[in-house]
Amino acid sequence: MSSQITIALSKGRILKDTLPLLKAAGIELTEDPGQSRKLIIPTTHPDVNLLIVRASDVPTYVEYGAADVGVAGKDVLLEHGSTELYEPLDLNIARCKLMTAGKVGAPEPGERIRVATKFVNVAKQYYASIGRQADIIKLYGSMELAPLVGLADIIIDVVDTGNTLRANGLEPRDLIRTISSRLVVNKASMKVKHDAVSQLIAQMSHAVQETR
Ligand code: ADP
Ligand code: PRP
Ligand code: MG
Repeated sequence: MSSQITIALSKGRILKDTLPLLKAAGIELTEDPGQSRKLIIPTTHPDVNLLIVRASDVPTYVEYGAADVGVAGKDVLLEHGSTELYEPLDLNIARCKLMTAGKVGAPEPGERIRVATKFVNVAKQYYASIGRQADIIKLYGSMELAPLVGLADIIIDVVDTGNTLRANGLEPRDLIRTISSRLVVNKASMKVKHDAVSQLIAQMSHAVQETR
């Protein structure tokens, strides 16, 4: 790798699950982003830096070329909706399901339904695809609360174990799609830094195969 490569990642499950894949590509962090307040983290690889950004901001950094490469959930990528990103590799990490959910036993209204979610674009597309009228209410978190306090009939969120839904008296309803995190690459970086980027993709791809 001779070009400088900048990788955008979010703290939490994506960072934790991406570290072993980067290690397989010869990239290790010199500081623990969980401890450090730094947002630019150097690595043991002299040509590679890591940016710590919000999960939903990863596509933006990569699209504008502020990062060459990033790791983002397919839910975030669908919501971002850009055609300007390459998505060469399914990392098979942070697996979950994008689902609708409602109060246990509560019937869905026949006419318009009120849907609370942070995935507004995904929600609009989903209800259009099934031909249902829906009023979409944008929230930034704690979506599970919305049906409990009468803000919405339905939420759309990611579900893994279902514990969060159960703990709030909600039940999963319809599966919108299964989700995992993807490696995304800036289109210009793919050309200009072709050797370094394709080497990184190949090494991470190999590591993903080994963990399957
Ligand atoms: P945020 O701070 O935006 O919630 P997370 O680190 O929780 O970021 O989520 C990052 C990605 O991990 C999501 O875009 C989604 O693809 C996936 N994800 C979210 N929640 C879960 C979960 N409970 N189990 C597995 N994967 C999840
Ligand atoms: C995610 C998601 C759900 C929960 C689903 O929240 O927004 O609330 O996980 O997982 P489960 O089905 O296993 O309960 P997360 O843990 O990421 O918390 P946060 O995004 O609200 O910080
Ligand atoms: Mg989360």
